[in-house]
Formats: sequence, C-alpha cells, structure tokens
Amino acid sequence: MCGIVGCILKNNEKAAPVLLDCIKKLEYRGYDSVGIATVSDKINIKKDAGQINKVNLELDLADMPGNYGIAHVRWATHGDPNKANSHPQVDNTGKIAVVHNGIIENYEVIKKELESQGHVFKSDTDTEVIPHLIEKYMDQGMDLEHALIETIGTIHGAYAIAVISLDEPNKILATRKDSPLIVGVGEDQYFVASDSPAILEYTRNIIYPERDEIVILEPEGVTIKDKQGNILEKEIEVIEWTPKMAQKEGYDYFMIKEINEQATAVKNTLTEKENIEKIVEDLDDINRICFVACGTSYHASLTGKYLIESLAGIPVDVILASEFKYSTNTLNEKTLVIFISQSGETADTLKALDIANKTSKTLGIVNVAGSSVTRRANYVIHTQAGPEIGVAATKTYLGQLTAIYMLAGLLAKNNTLMEELDRVPEFIEELLLDTNSIKEMATRYKDNNDFYFIGRGYSYPIALEGALKLKEITYIHAEGYAAGELKHGPLALIDIGVPVVVVLPPGEDHRKTMSNLEEVKSRGARVIAIGASDDAMLISKSDDAFTINPDVTDIISPLVYIIPLQMLAYYIAIERELDPDKPKNLAKCVTVE
Ligand code: G6P
Repeated sequence: MCGIVGCILKNNEKAAPVLLDCIKKLEYRGYDSVGIATVSDKINIKKDAGQINKVNLELDLADMPGNYGIAHVRWATHGDPNKANSHPQVDNTGKIAVVHNGIIENYEVIKKELESQGHVFKSDTDTEVIPHLIEKYMDQGMDLEHALIETIGTIHGAYAIAVISLDEPNKILATRKDSPLIVGVGEDQYFVASDSPAILEYTRNIIYPERDEIVILEPEGVTIKDKQGNILEKEIEVIEWTPKMAQKEGYDYFMIKEINEQATAVKNTLTEKENIEKIVEDLDDINRICFVACGTSYHASLTGKYLIESLAGIPVDVILASEFKYSTNTLNEKTLVIFISQSGETADTLKALDIANKTSKTLGIVNVAGSSVTRRANYVIHTQAGPEIGVAATKTYLGQLTAIYMLAGLLAKNNTLMEELDRVPEFIEELLLDTNSIKEMATRYKDNNDFYFIGRGYSYPIALEGALKLKEITYIHAEGYAAGELKHGPLALIDIGVPVVVVLPPGEDHRKTMSNLEEVKSRGARVIAIGASDDAMLISKSDDAFTINPDVTDIISPLVYIIPLQMLAYYIAIERELDPDKPKNLAKCVTVE
C-alpha cells in the first residue's frame, strides 16, 4: 500500500539509478504510479501514472542528477491514479518534496486553512498538505527538522514520510506512525524504505524506527532522534534475507517462483519448533484461543480452528481483523489472541492487536522480521518463508499453516501430527514434479466467468483459499463453500458447464463430499477434482482431476491440496495474459483500515 524509499550516497554518485532499483522492489506495494525526486541545484522530479516499466520507458527515471533523493510507488487512496496525484508532492515553491505511505485523516481541514493562507494545491491527494505544512513552518523560521516535527503534530492518521528540502541540502528526513519504515545502514550509503526487500541489494543492516522518531540521513551517516531532539542509540539488526531471495531467479513471475518454494518454506518453518515449545510451556493456563487475521491469513486461521479444537480441545474463534473490535467483551487474561500476518503491517490487524494487548496474551505469526506485529505481540513465531513479492500470498500461507500445525501439535502433545508434518515437504516436492495437467486445465477453463470451490472440514478453508486465489489474480468470479452448504443456496447457481472444484482428500467425510460432487454433476457442472491418486471413484466421476499421493491424510491435506489450486489460478491468469504478481486494485501490504 504505497512504497517509499529515500537514499543518500557519498562521493557524488548518482542516486536516481539506485532509487529506481529500490522502488522497483517495492512495486508489490502499489503500481498506480511511480515518481522520483533528486536534488542537484534544484529539486528534479520525474513521475507519472502507470507501472514502473511503462513510466520508465517514457521518462528514463534513472537519468536524474544528484546524490540523494526520494521515490514512491502509489496505491491510490485519495485522488485518481494520474500524474498530478503521483508522488513526490511538493510545496508552493517546489523546494520541498515529500513521499508518503498512509492516510492523513484531517487533510481537508488543513488544506482549507492553508488555502486561506495562500497555498495553492495541485493534486487531490491527502499527502500534498505535508510539503505545504513544512513550507509554512519553515517560513516561520523553523529548520526542516522542527518543521517536520510540527507537521506530524498537526496531521492525524497513518504515515511513513520521507522529505527533502533545497534549503537544507545533503539531508533526507523521515518519520513514521502506523505505517512501516526501516532504515538501511550501508557503507557510504544510507536508506529509508517501507520494507527491507527494497534495499537488500545494498545493505542488510537495518534499524527499525519507532513512532514519531525522526530519522536524518546525511552523507556521513544516520542519526535518529526523538521529538525533543535527543539522539537515540538504536540497535542495528542484520536481516537474514539475501538479495537473491527477492529476485525472480529465472522464473517468469514471482508467484510461480514462490509456489515452487513452498517445500522449503515448510522445512524452514519447522525449525521454529523449539521456540513454539517454549511459548506453549508459558501458556499453560489459557482456556480459549482467538485467531485474528485478514485475507489468506484468515484462511490459515480457519484451519487452525479445526485443528486446535479437534486435537487440543481448546475452544477457538476466528475473527476478521476489521471486525475484531465488535468481539472484545469476552476477552480475558486466559484468552490467547493469535495474530496471523505475512507482512506484520496490516493496519486492521495492528489495530486489533493493540486492543487485545490490553486484556489478553498475544501471539504473532509473521513472515517479516522486525515488522510491527513482531514488536507489539507478547510472543512471536516467525514463518520462515523468505521474502514474498507476489501480491497473492502462497508460500507465506504454507509457512503460516506449518506454524499453526506445530502449535496445535504441541498444545495437544500429539506426536503423530508432528511426524506427519515432517513428511509434508516431501509430498509438496513430489506434487510439484508434474503439474502439466493443471497447465492444460487452465487452457480449458480460462474463459469461464464463475467458479465454485467446495470442501468439507479441513478442505473447507482450502476451498475458500482456492477461490480467493482465483478471483485475486484472474478477476474471475469465484466462491468457496462448505460442501454441505451447497443445498442451502449455491446449488441454484449451478448450471450446464459451470466449473466446480471439489477438494476431496481421503478421510471419514469422503463419501459425503462425493455425494455433493454427484449433486453438482447431475446439474451439469464441470467437476475439477483434487484427490488421492488411488481414488478411482473420484477420478471416474470428475471431468478433470489432479491427484496427490494417497499418504497425504485429511488432517495434513491443507498443506498440500492448496498447491494445485494456487497453480490453477496462476496458469489461468497467464492464459488470460494478466500479470499474476500485480493484480489490479490490490496490494501486498495493506496499511490503511
Ligand atoms: C492483502 C494481501 C493478501 C494478504 C492480506 C492480509 O490483501 O494481498 O495476500 O493475505 O493482505 O495480509 P497480511 O500481511 O496481514 O497477511
């Protein structure tokens, strides 16, 4: 949800090529527009609506003078995605430029007041009030640092801001509240960015500034101060991710690379076992669990409910983060509230976490180290999926499921589950060896307008997630249903040729779901079945089948059966000539409520 970068280099090296390189790595956060500002004898700005490659062809973004600057990719909130609304935004004089991720909630009031004082606005963005406010405070005699402090005292909302001013050369200032910002400390090069993949190529030494701390980048180094001007001693953490991990490495798209990395994501997340053992020991008095999450992370949570309730006998609720505040009356100190988030920065999830921290114990299951959830939750499990760039979550989902399975297994002291879990990477690797049938299916189903996904028990969240993947990246209408619910409405939508994906691993409910398969088939549906390779009945009754090793039991099926559904969505997107990494209107990290 918007990405920002700032960088300052020593020795008069040109910053624009570095800024362009960094901002490209943040394109997963937004691709409505892109812009770069650098400073030479003036502030140079190149920006326009559209994805980076397109804008770069037109404007040659790397060709700008100056050894420091700021850059932005936009996910539009206020104002259409056009050139005027692209960042950087500037003040009246064009001497102050700002990039911003977040939302300024009181921008209309501020804008009116500034207009009455003679400020002229050129965009519909909320962001534009920031350079104008800084200008106003500098006109009153403040330096850039104090003008920025005054500005963040005036605005309400969420922000990560980077600012440059011609009047104070060789300096980038940045600050944050409720939007992510990291500081990169390289050799003779210093950065701020919304997320670490932007700067991995240049440095893995990261500082995490807290709310309203003021970051000052200069050619000599980085200073971080509190609002009172005191210099803070901040710890530099070395991030484990490498630049290679955030590259396509020969794949056409990040999404297919990340689908193929899922066995590794599971293997690596299994190394969290000791950490989870300690957490479980510490939490021996909890009597209820609440999962809170959004999107794909919500689907992982649903699997957690089935697992923990059936294995550990602990009551579990699963609540969408944006709805959490309506369900807080029953929380107490014996409730464990688990926040699942690949990014660790989802605004709704963070708001819910702050509420839960007041009454209950909180645990974050997060992929991005150092992200806000990891710093605010009482306990943290890191999913070890590595950087995920494709907007549609795949390997982070597998990481989340792995963490949840370990948690459930350890809460229930169920060694059999832990042993089964160890075999999952092998099942995934085997499945990924031959996925041609999915590719072929994509050619047959690419023109369908509606898809239904059904599953029962552990397969129900898989059906939901399969439908979500399809609608996210192919724009085909898709719905996931509990197989038993078909007869209560969705069956009315089944007609000749409508594809119904049936998730049907072996297990005690097999016969029941098979009856549901028959019901849709008898109404003309084209059935795509995902089942065990020895399931002759399933294969014969379906129009298309993708089969999986029969040793994958019902209980661990969510970790394996989702993969063909991710691939079906991916290959249909390719057939429809869509970019699966950048679905329209979506972003990977949703920092607005
Ligand atoms: C966005 C992403 C999804 C993700 C959801 C929740 O919508 O596109 O892939 O599942 O946010 O994000 P989180 O980072 O909290 O898991």
